[in-house]
Amino acid sequence: MNRVTTLEAYEDDRGNRIEFSGTVEKNIRVKFKGRNNVLRVATQHNIAQLFVDFDCDDGLVEIGSSHGVPGLRAAIRVGDGCQVRIGKNVSSTTTVAMSTAEGTSITIGDDVMIASDTQIRADDGHPIFDVRTGKRVNAARSIVIGNHVWLGLGACVLGGVTIGDGTVVGMRSVVTRSLPNNVVGAGSPAKVVKRNVAWERPHLTLDPPYRKPTAASVKKSTAYWTLTVDPGRPSRSRGIYAGARRRTRRRLRAVRAMADGLTRRT
Ligand SMILES: CC(C)(COP(=O)(O)OP(=O)(O)OC[C@H]1O[C@@H](n2cnc3c(N)ncnc32)[C@H](O)[C@@H]1OP(=O)(O)O)[C@@H](O)C(=O)NCCC(=O)NCCS
Repeated sequence: MNRVTTLEAYEDDRGNRIEFSGTVEKNIRVKFKGRNNVLRVATQHNIAQLFVDFDCDDGLVEIGSSHGVPGLRAAIRVGDGCQVRIGKNVSSTTTVAMSTAEGTSITIGDDVMIASDTQIRADDGHPIFDVRTGKRVNAARSIVIGNHVWLGLGACVLGGVTIGDGTVVGMRSVVTRSLPNNVVGAGSPAKVVKRNVAWERPHLTLDPPYRKPTAASVKKSTAYWTLTVDPGRPSRSRGIYAGARRRTRRRLRAVRAMADGLTRRT
């Protein structure tokens, strides 16, 4: 196993690489156990702490650029053929733990705010089997966290979950099923408790004004001020679906009118 404690351009004889232009010496630890693993970090980063364990082969970790938001602290376990992609301006208050195994991926969008003590786990760490069939019952599954998502303190996101843009995950919530955009998802398992919400980064006591009663007190990230679109229920603003709905309603009216006419005649 090769252990690296400086973030800088690196390559070993088993095809493991770090792609980064610069040098960071504090709070870095990258372990390469297998072959052909790649850690790629944008030049303009804001990494406060980075631990990466490439346990197997063909793993990839990509971390996007960061500017004007607090730093990122992450401990990332990368399994066989797994990928972790972290977008731009992703921050975390303390170390966020991420785990992938068995070809899964974790994708985190841009401008994601991660509170203390959170976990993002595509796998359970150990296998569970059905006693009768011997089949695996807890397959590792990929995770997608959209843009401008806020994970509250102690939140856990489990395998197979997609979280839509602009969504907030409540404190100590365990997200086991996907959440749509612009909702508050809370509880264990997390359920949608509020819809059509938007959050902003300015801190209530650290960033003025110190009372923020309406949206006029913050700079809106307008791209994420969007109504919630439920899965399988297309937004009314989407032209093609709106057109299809109008056509269906027109046909239904015509069928009803025809049925009415037939009833009156008999
Ligand atoms: C998610 C959160 C921001 C939502 O706040 P809110 O919009 O004011 O939500 P409300 O308090 O009105 O709660 C709405 C419902 O969700 C439930 N709920 C809210 N947060 C919950 C949580 N973390 N776990 C379980 N249920 C929760 C409430 O009980 C309420 O249920 P009800 O309608 O049945 O009474 C807040 O609850 C939270 O978790 N705050 C902590 C944020 C954090 O981690 N900050 C750290 C610094 S980044």
